[in-house]
Amino acid sequence: MQTPNVDVHVANTQLSAVDADWLFIPVSRAETTLPFEDLDAATGGEVGRAISSGEFKAKNYRVFVTPVVNREWRARRVALVGAGDAAQFGADLLRRLAAVAGLTARDRQAARVAFVSRQPFAASSSLLPAGEQAGIAEAIAEGLLFATFDAAPYKTDDHDVWVPQGFVVALPGADAETMREASAAVREGMLLNEGMNVARHLANEPGNRLRPRDFAARAAEIASRAGLDVEVLDESRIAEMGMGLLLGVARGSEEPPRLLVIRYEPGDAAPEPRLGLVGKGVTFDTGGISIKPSQGLDRMKDDMAGGAAVIGALCAIAQLKPQRRVIGVVPIAENMPSGQAIRPGDVLTGASGKTVEVIDTDAEGRLILADALWYARQQGATHLIDVATLTGACAVALGHDISGLFARPQSWAETVRSVAQAAGDHVWPMPLVDDYLELLRSDIADLKNVGGRPAGAITAAMFLGEFAGPGPWAHLDIAGTAWSEEAKEYLPKGPTGAAVKTLARLAFAPLP
Ligand code: BES
Ligand code: MN
Ligand code: ZN
Repeated sequence: MQTPNVDVHVANTQLSAVDADWLFIPVSRAETTLPFEDLDAATGGEVGRAISSGEFKAKNYRVFVTPVVNREWRARRVALVGAGDAAQFGADLLRRLAAVAGLTARDRQAARVAFVSRQPFAASSSLLPAGEQAGIAEAIAEGLLFATFDAAPYKTDDHDVWVPQGFVVALPGADAETMREASAAVREGMLLNEGMNVARHLANEPGNRLRPRDFAARAAEIASRAGLDVEVLDESRIAEMGMGLLLGVARGSEEPPRLLVIRYEPGDAAPEPRLGLVGKGVTFDTGGISIKPSQGLDRMKDDMAGGAAVIGALCAIAQLKPQRRVIGVVPIAENMPSGQAIRPGDVLTGASGKTVEVIDTDAEGRLILADALWYARQQGATHLIDVATLTGACAVALGHDISGLFARPQSWAETVRSVAQAAGDHVWPMPLVDDYLELLRSDIADLKNVGGRPAGAITAAMFLGEFAGPGPWAHLDIAGTAWSEEAKEYLPKGPTGAAVKTLARLAFAPLP
């Protein structure tokens, strides 16, 4: 029931010769005619008529579909996709428009789909400047492939599977050099998207079908198939290492915890730097004894989306083959209430030796991540980044399109921010405020695990920072962004794959 890996090609032929059944063309509101002379005739005048009559206004994400009547064309359908106003033009917009195209094609069960890469706002030429073609082609490939994800693997009837035969990014008239660059970029986009779909698939799995040992075993299988080194530490190894925070969170569940460690070690890479990717792997978060209200609780099956992002990113990294060592660490547990569960007020000791008073058992992510961050540092990670569905407060602050970025020092924050922007993951910098550490002081132990409602996303991040060691460390709070609550034209309901591409691309970025 895995999401298909579909091939994407680039083509520089004229539109009539593009080898696909469907031809999607982005069109802006500024355009009254399109610079493809025979397009209008090929559609029996429908394209021109739709634009001039206002039937198609090129509003964002609107789609106008019309048949191709000229039998000499390979395509059977032309679809105009509304690109809105020129101000928004860029890879981000094209990625979304391609996703709209992909989702439309999915709905229509199209077999071969092409998307025309063009600058829909330039008056004279419609082809992009050569330097921009590759990045835009990659974004288009990502957008198209995003739609191949199967979000309903457990439907036994009316299962909307879609196995397209292939995608084409059309760059009509592009020269050989541009084609080479675009084709390499498209391949990158394909691999990044496969990583995303791995992460989305895992995050979509229900809590009963992905319990901690299942998650560890599935992840290990996926990662070793990708050629990565995998180690799964069981509860006795976790206890030997003194990871009392991870053990504590897992105590309420009948399922023991796991620590998943994935290593990417290219033979000739220098021992340092070593990038450390850490992801929250709570397979289901009931809140524990500080139990959550039942409204919306089903969503807490995706509380391992950060861990899934680490796994997906490492799959992409294994294929993209950067010359840099990467270690992924995913602490895995299920947060349940029971007679064995930890209580509010309990004091736990983490692997670093620090003691934590558990004020609220629902603030479990920071506990398991604390041990994992410490472990990643111990294993030689020089540059750390963790990803977690950590706080509702972050979703309140930044909504469902933007993840919170917390990092130190500033140079590492800037690196992560620019890599995320290039990847199309929306992040916004949030402050780490030393004064707020006061809010995490416990009367009985070194720290308490919650700092109160104000600045809830910040104090959660600051808690993690106490375990991340002195080197560069960043934290992405994806509580608001990992899951799409309502369908948008460019984003279906369900797991989004947030942060996967950022993590994978960080393996290539110049590090501070
Ligand atoms: N997994 C949740 C955070 C979350 C909330 C993710 C909503 C996605 C949507 C996390 O473990 C949690 O429960 N956080 C608490 C922290 C609080 C107890 C300090 C929260 O945000 O309410
Ligand atoms: Mn919780
Ligand atoms: Zn949680």
